[in-house]
Amino acid sequence: MTYALSNARIVTMRPMDLGVRRGTQLCDLGTIPRGFVAIDHGTITECTAGDPPAGMRSIDLQGRTILPGWVDCHTHACWAGDRSNEWARKLSGVPYLEILASGGGIMSTVRSVRAATAEHLTALLVRRLHRMLALGTVACEVKTGYGLSVDAESKMLRSILSAGTSMPGMPVIPTYLGAHALDPEHPDWVRECIDRALPAAARAVPGISCDLFCEKGAWSVDDSLRLLERAAGLGCPLRVHTDQFTSTGLVPHAVRMRAKSIDHLEASTDDDLRCVAESGTIGVGLPASPFALSTPYMRGRAFIDMGGAIAIASNWNPGSAPTPSVAFAAALAVRHMGLTPEEAITAATWNAAHLLGLESDTGALHVGKAARLQVVDAPDERACVLELAGGAPALVVSPMGVSGCDAALVAAATSADPR
Ligand code: NIG
Repeated sequence: MTYALSNARIVTMRPMDLGVRRGTQLCDLGTIPRGFVAIDHGTITECTAGDPPAGMRSIDLQGRTILPGWVDCHTHACWAGDRSNEWARKLSGVPYLEILASGGGIMSTVRSVRAATAEHLTALLVRRLHRMLALGTVACEVKTGYGLSVDAESKMLRSILSAGTSMPGMPVIPTYLGAHALDPEHPDWVRECIDRALPAAARAVPGISCDLFCEKGAWSVDDSLRLLERAAGLGCPLRVHTDQFTSTGLVPHAVRMRAKSIDHLEASTDDDLRCVAESGTIGVGLPASPFALSTPYMRGRAFIDMGGAIAIASNWNPGSAPTPSVAFAAALAVRHMGLTPEEAITAATWNAAHLLGLESDTGALHVGKAARLQVVDAPDERACVLELAGGAPALVVSPMGVSGCDAALVAAATSADPR
C-alpha cells in the first residue's frame, strides 16, 4: 500500500547525474522546502513539492526534515573482546601506536577474534548492525582485519557475509583488510596475506575491495604496494588506510593505482592532499579517531577547496573510534575538519554510497530508489550535524522496516508500512 511522509522539508541529493560530488558540488543538497515522499513496498514512488494526492494515506511530519539515511563507508564493526582496560593507558597519554607496538590495540582484538567462533562474531555484528540502523545508518561497509591468519580472516569474512544475510534490506559490504597489522608471532603473515588470504577472499567474494593499513608499526609502503598490485590483478577495488599518524608516502602510489578511496589522511602533506583531490580517488575523513585519540584531524576544508571528493564515516572499532554514529562523525567533521553542514551531509550519504557502489538505490531520495531515509525532528537538515550525540532520529525508514525515537511517528509509519 502506498503511503506518504508529507508536510516535510526534503533533502533529495538531486541532481543525480553529478556522480560523486567534489569541491563546490558538495553544498548542493537538492532540497525541497515543503513536499512529500510516497513509499510503496519499500520503494520511493514520488518525492516532490506540495501535498500528496487526495486519498493517499499520509503521515504529517509537521515541517520536520527528511534526509537520506546515513551510509557508513568505513567500519571495523566485526570484532570480539573488549579494550576498556587499554583506554586507561590511552587516557594516561600512551600513544595509539605505542599500545599497538606493545601487543595491545589491534593485536588485542586479533587475539579475541581468533578465539571466537564464527557464530559468535556473527551474532555480535548483527547486534551492532541493529544499533547502526537505529541511528539512521541504512547501509554500511564492514572490514575483516582482526584475524591476520588465513583461517581467521576467512572466518571474519564468513561472519560479515552471514550477518549481512540477517539484515535483508540493509546492504552490508565486506572489505578484505588482512593487511591491518603485523603479528610478531606470525612473521610470514605479509607473504600469506598476499599469496593466500587475499586470493581466498577474492574467490569467496568476487570483486571484494582490498584495504590495508600503511603506517609506522603496521604495513610498510613496499609491502603495501605488493599487496595492492596483487589485489588489482585479482580485480579487487583498492582502498587504503594511510597517513593516520605519519605521512607515509603511499598516497601518490595509491592514486596512481586508481584506489577507490584513501582513508584517514590526517597527517598528509599539502601535495598529497592535492594529489588525491585532483584524482578520481575519494578521500575518506574519519574524525571520530582523532577525537578519541586527541590527534590532528584530516584537513577537510583544504581538501574540498582543492576540488576533492570527500566521504565521512564512523570508523566504528573497539579502539580508535568507539562510536557507531555517523551523525557524530559528521558533526565532528563540521567542527574540526572545516566542512559546512551541507558538505558533511553529502559526504556521509551520497558520496559514501558511491564509494560502496550503492548509489543506484541508496544515498539519495528519488523515484525508483529504495526508501532508505531518516526524519530529523527539526525544520532544517543542519540540525542533524549541529546536534551532538543526539541518538536515534525521529524516524528511520528502510526495507528493514521502521524505527526511531518518536513513538507516535513510528506507530503511524508501522501501521502504514506493515512489513
Ligand atoms: O582506522 N588504524 C587502523 N585501523 C583502525 C583502528 C582499529 C583498532 O584500533 O582496532 C582505524 O583507526
